[in-house]
Amino acid sequence: MRPNVVILAAGLGTRMRSRRAKVLHELAGRPLIAYVVRAALGVHPARLVVVLGHQAEEVRRVVEREVARSVGEESLRPRLLFALQQEPLGTGHAALVALEALSAEEGPPYPPISVDEGEALEQWQRWEEPSLWREPLVLLYGDMPRVRAETIAWLVAAHLEGHAAATLVTMQLEDPRGYGRIVRDAQGEVVRIVEETEAGPEERAIREVNAGLYCFDPKPLFGALRRLKPENQKGEYYLTDVVGGLTSVGYRVRAIRSEHSEELWGVNTRPDLARLEAELRREICARWMREGVTIRDPDTTWIDADVVIGAETVVHPHVHLEGETRIGEACEIHAWTRIVNSQLGDRVVVRNFTVIQESRIGNDVRIGPFAHLRGEVELADEVAIGNFVEVKKSWIGRGSKAMHLAYLGDATVGERVNVGAGTITCNYDGKRKHPTIIEDDVKLGSDTMLVAPVRVGRGAMTGAGAVVIRDVPEHTLVVGVPAVEKKRLKEDAEGSSSAR
Ligand code: UD1
Ligand code: CA
Repeated sequence: MRPNVVILAAGLGTRMRSRRAKVLHELAGRPLIAYVVRAALGVHPARLVVVLGHQAEEVRRVVEREVARSVGEESLRPRLLFALQQEPLGTGHAALVALEALSAEEGPPYPPISVDEGEALEQWQRWEEPSLWREPLVLLYGDMPRVRAETIAWLVAAHLEGHAAATLVTMQLEDPRGYGRIVRDAQGEVVRIVEETEAGPEERAIREVNAGLYCFDPKPLFGALRRLKPENQKGEYYLTDVVGGLTSVGYRVRAIRSEHSEELWGVNTRPDLARLEAELRREICARWMREGVTIRDPDTTWIDADVVIGAETVVHPHVHLEGETRIGEACEIHAWTRIVNSQLGDRVVVRNFTVIQESRIGNDVRIGPFAHLRGEVELADEVAIGNFVEVKKSWIGRGSKAMHLAYLGDATVGERVNVGAGTITCNYDGKRKHPTIIEDDVKLGSDTMLVAPVRVGRGAMTGAGAVVIRDVPEHTLVVGVPAVEKKRLKEDAEGSSSAR
């Protein structure tokens, strides 16, 4: 048995007061919808249907990416379907759109009947209901990012053993505001769900609420959805009215209560988002500490959900590790550092107030304080980048150093190069960016200006304040403005030069 799962993600999210679809807002660096998709994939659905509306294309891309990265095995990959809800007419309408998309994809819900009577009878007898209409259908909202696969599996199991047409998860809240309330009869059976806008004072006092996580027999659901009417304050089709719709015609609806209510909180407003993020951040820090990472102050450390950190690494206060960052083992990340979508090797030391974006860094590298790797930077092992050095779109070879006040952009730097204080690649001529190549064992004097495109040959040196506008031959010292050849340099056994 593999259930089918429907995620509703078409709403505008009016209460967020945002131009961005609510499900695209991020929690610890990942869009809300990505969390819900990952949890849904945890129950290995046969089909996953996502209802799109607001910013459909962006939401679709996030969902596709999440499915691609979460499901390794081809056999466990769900059939992924998208259904477009043209107008946000309510959760009931969104669910109907999903079921229509499913039935359009998977053939009619009822057997085909031939015009020939004899054949029709035979067809009917042979017809096997497509599994879609026999498998349980899980339905959940795209704005409940903390939901766990275990909880969805628990719901499906309860549904299968419960012999009800629908099973829904409820929670008991101190403050039930904003949620649909569960109305039960004298025997404790669920009768219907009342949305807050429709509830009278007595119903409002009910603290058992609808989490927004359901499991249905698809056929009665389909029928009940078709009978929904938007007769309420908001003029929307409420999915929750399906419960009353089913019980009123004799179906049983079962409610199971979750003890982990924080997991099922929905995000409707920005304070909701901040509250969930604070909680998630604490959990992420706790997880990495269990894995052997020292986090000196979890309260001020921000680690995004997809970050990976090696054991014995020490993270100081006020560090932000974002996106798909991976940090190796035994690194030390000092305070007020921000690292975004970057990979660091082992034993890397990043000193205070450093920003590293979209970069790849080898082992035993030292960076900062106050350094900025602005993107597409590759540092080989044992590189040292010091105070107030900015590097952009550059490759720097093993053992090279730029310790003070330098800018390296569009540069390829060889091994064992020393970049003197104040050195700058003048890579932009006002119209285009040009490359600079600095070969192995070069020593650039303080305040060298490298006017790109330019190449500094292996073992060459520049004098302080040199403005290099032409390529420098190997093992040559150039000085002045513009820089001219002063002398040839002796090459020692290791290939580096020294003045004669
Ligand atoms: C809903 C439930 C409420 C429950 C609460 C749990 C209804 C009517 N109410 O209320 O009983 O306690 O969730 O968090 O279902 N969506 C669409 N299309 C639409 C409208 C919404 O796809 O036309 C999607 C949204 O993108 C969102 C989800 O459905 O992900 C829930 O919608 P939302 O407006 O947040 O419902 P709530 O008011 O929170
Ligand atoms: Ca909601």
